[in-house]
Amino acid sequence: VCVCVCGVCVCVCVCLYPINYLSPLQQLTGTLALAVFTAALGSLQYGYSLGVINAPQQVIQKHYGRSLGVWSERNAVPPENSTEEEELPDVAHNPAVVMYWSLSVAIFSIGGMLSSFLVGFVGDLKGRVKGMLMVNVLAIAGGLLMGFCKMWKPHIMVISGRAVMGFYCGLTSGLVPMYIGEIAPKAYRGALGTLHQLAIVTGILISQVIGLDFVLGNDDMWPLLLGLSGAPAVLQSLLLPLCPESPRYLYIQLGKDQEAKKSLYRLKGRYDATSDLEEMRREKEEADKEARVSILSLIRSSVYRQQLFVALMMHLSQQLSGINAIFYYSTSIFSRAGVAQPVYATIGVGVINTVFTLVSVALVDKAGRRTLTLIGLGGMCCCAIAMTVGLKFQYEYSWMSYISMSAIFLFVSFFEIGPGPIPWFIVAELFSQGPRPAAIALAGCCNWTSNFIIGMTFQYIQAWLDCYVFILFAALLLGFTVFAYLRVPETKGKTFEEIAAVFQKGRKKQAQSPKDDTELQQLKTSTDA
Ligand code: GLC
Repeated sequence: VCVCVCGVCVCVCVCLYPINYLSPLQQLTGTLALAVFTAALGSLQYGYSLGVINAPQQVIQKHYGRSLGVWSERNAVPPENSTEEEELPDVAHNPAVVMYWSLSVAIFSIGGMLSSFLVGFVGDLKGRVKGMLMVNVLAIAGGLLMGFCKMWKPHIMVISGRAVMGFYCGLTSGLVPMYIGEIAPKAYRGALGTLHQLAIVTGILISQVIGLDFVLGNDDMWPLLLGLSGAPAVLQSLLLPLCPESPRYLYIQLGKDQEAKKSLYRLKGRYDATSDLEEMRREKEEADKEARVSILSLIRSSVYRQQLFVALMMHLSQQLSGINAIFYYSTSIFSRAGVAQPVYATIGVGVINTVFTLVSVALVDKAGRRTLTLIGLGGMCCCAIAMTVGLKFQYEYSWMSYISMSAIFLFVSFFEIGPGPIPWFIVAELFSQGPRPAAIALAGCCNWTSNFIIGMTFQYIQAWLDCYVFILFAALLLGFTVFAYLRVPETKGKTFEEIAAVFQKGRKKQAQSPKDDTELQQLKTSTDA
């Protein structure tokens, strides 16, 4: 817009020629916001399913007991001066109930572990958008199984529903970061990538709040509480047809340059797409040389070994930091640390979790992935030591419960600043289009498996190490901090090509080029699935 003022008149001239250059801020269009929001509904669902099973544990166990015939209203008439709560542990300790309950919790991760291998296949089959749309059938089926669980044997229905939902979440936890990573403008890749984690933690928080007994976590409403896990999938299915397909998928995978261009315009507005198209063209050239990189060839190849090592270690550090020990067992950890009102302290953890993920959204594209990972892991390590001190001396000094509680809150805050969100999107940044789906699948599987292991073993480790349980995590966190310092590169503001070049340089340094060349050649001809 040009305004010209002279003594006689004011002349306003508006140029209607398409804008050629867009500042990074202008690249954040409504369509991009819609696409990211829609994708992140899958992450919200994942977070909700992670958190929903905790609060209503006792209520659901009672129903399992009823359906298994080990608990009935008649034999549960409380003895005089007793409360119903005192009656419940009998059901909770019944071996059949324990077995079905543990299965209800664990089957979710087993579903995720299995399906995370299929992320690449589903994402490449019909594209990222159609992939997300297809897998919503699973989410809706899982939600219905749980929502109508009272119609048949609740324990069987809930276990089946959780298995299907876990299978869905394994897929969505890979598809969402892949899609967002591919459509995000370079300057906002970190912030938009962190929205995946923000949606997860929001889902956890929502499930904690509506899981309170006076909302839905009660005798009548708990099936609805579990069934609602499928609700975001319904909304997502309505919105996905409005979202543009990933331009990188269209151009690099399918060679449809005109459609890719249209998709870029829809995502970023009318602008000069030459440099984006040029970058994709070069990446396509690389991808064409590589053919398809399968999970097996990725594991075997020394060409991608460094990237893969970094990606897997980032996911291991996220899970072996012990974060889910807090999320799965926070109420009992708070009780042990002498905190009054542990349930509300747990919700406090959910709130802190969400607030610090927002801090990460604001910081990640400025401070960088490497810095935030280092601060996060190092801070968590110190908090784990403080938690140990708090637990050790809680009986000597009553104020130690404040130390423990603050240490837990800070532990979660440091997690969300870096080690929580970054592993999810950094894998998409570390790999070019060819090996990206396989790498995301492997990293996802590593994440789900370690999550499952911590969920299953934490209580035993706690019984074994007692108040020293967090020392184990402190030692692991120290190791991961050193690893991040030595091996994790900064990916902020770099193109995928520049990031690949960092690793290529590293490989050249190791002077293994002849062997790598042969391997690259082998990868070129690899067409396995
Ligand atoms: C990450 C982890 C997940 C954890 C959550 C807590 O998304 O992958 O396992 O429960 O953070 O915020």
